[in-house]
Amino acid sequence: MSERLVGKRVLVTAAGQGIGRASAIAMAREGAQVFATDINLENLSSIRSENLENIEIFEMNVTDDTSVAQGVERANPDVLFNCAGFVHHGTILDATDEEWDFAMDLNVRSMMRTTKAVLPGMVERGGGSIINMSSALGSIIGAPNRFVYGVTKAAVVGLTKSVAVDFITKGIRCNCICPGTVDSPSWRDRVEALAQELGSREEAMAQFVARQPMGRVAKAEEIAALVVYLASDESAFTTGHTHIIDGGWSGQ
Ligand SMILES: NC(=O)c1ccc[n+]([C@@H]2O[C@H](COP(=O)([O-])OP(=O)(O)OC[C@H]3O[C@@H](n4cnc5c(N)ncnc54)[C@H](O)[C@@H]3O)[C@@H](O)[C@H]2O)c1
Repeated sequence: MSERLVGKRVLVTAAGQGIGRASAIAMAREGAQVFATDINLENLSSIRSENLENIEIFEMNVTDDTSVAQGVERANPDVLFNCAGFVHHGTILDATDEEWDFAMDLNVRSMMRTTKAVLPGMVERGGGSIINMSSALGSIIGAPNRFVYGVTKAAVVGLTKSVAVDFITKGIRCNCICPGTVDSPSWRDRVEALAQELGSREEAMAQFVARQPMGRVAKAEEIAALVVYLASDESAFTTGHTHIIDGGWSGQ
């Protein structure tokens, strides 16, 4: 364990798997007191196998005001990592109002809920770092069949800049992360769905990998390293920004 985050209390949403889980573990290894939350307690519980005493797990549903209020009261965080999000597949013609509402709630409004809940404590203590999960897809680059998802992730960029500007004089930073494709359980589900459509798992995998000029997708731990940096005081002069980490996808 090193000590880049010693003394910091960190609240992570969607820590049951994928980037949220990798980030919760990475931040605990850097000495933070981590509060890892998700709606899937079974997945969350598996974090115990990491034998990190400084990770506390509990259920928190980011689409529920009461659940968020209780979770924030328990964690009283210096750092908030808003990681929860859902990928809707399809064009604008495929999207129903219900799918739009669900995605806007889970991917965007959830961040308003958690951020509103953590800000009073951060303001009182005179500092804090809020890290929002956006995507390279949406405001940075377009991708086929990601209409609803792209809109929600672009909205996260706006939410981030707005919070950053309003609270900069209070010592609170707010940044967002824009990853390319990352290996995670839900990404593997998306590969399987495309494989069914194409009749070939190899072809499906090749299509996803082709988006990344590096010829591979990211590991969740590579995104977690950026989360650690933004949570730490090493990034003290950075706020209101989109931090792109996409294997060169949008950099060509
Ligand atoms: N995987 C990628 O390629 C990729 C790329 C860019 C951005 N992202 C974003 O990163 C984030 C994490 O994605 P991932 O693929 O690493 O993880 P994932 O999609 O595999 O897991 C998502 C987690 O969110 C939890 N969750 C769902 N609804 C919730 C709710 N209401 N409250 C709390 N938790 C809830 C699930 O239980 C699950 O543990 C998402 O916001 C996603 O949009 C992912």
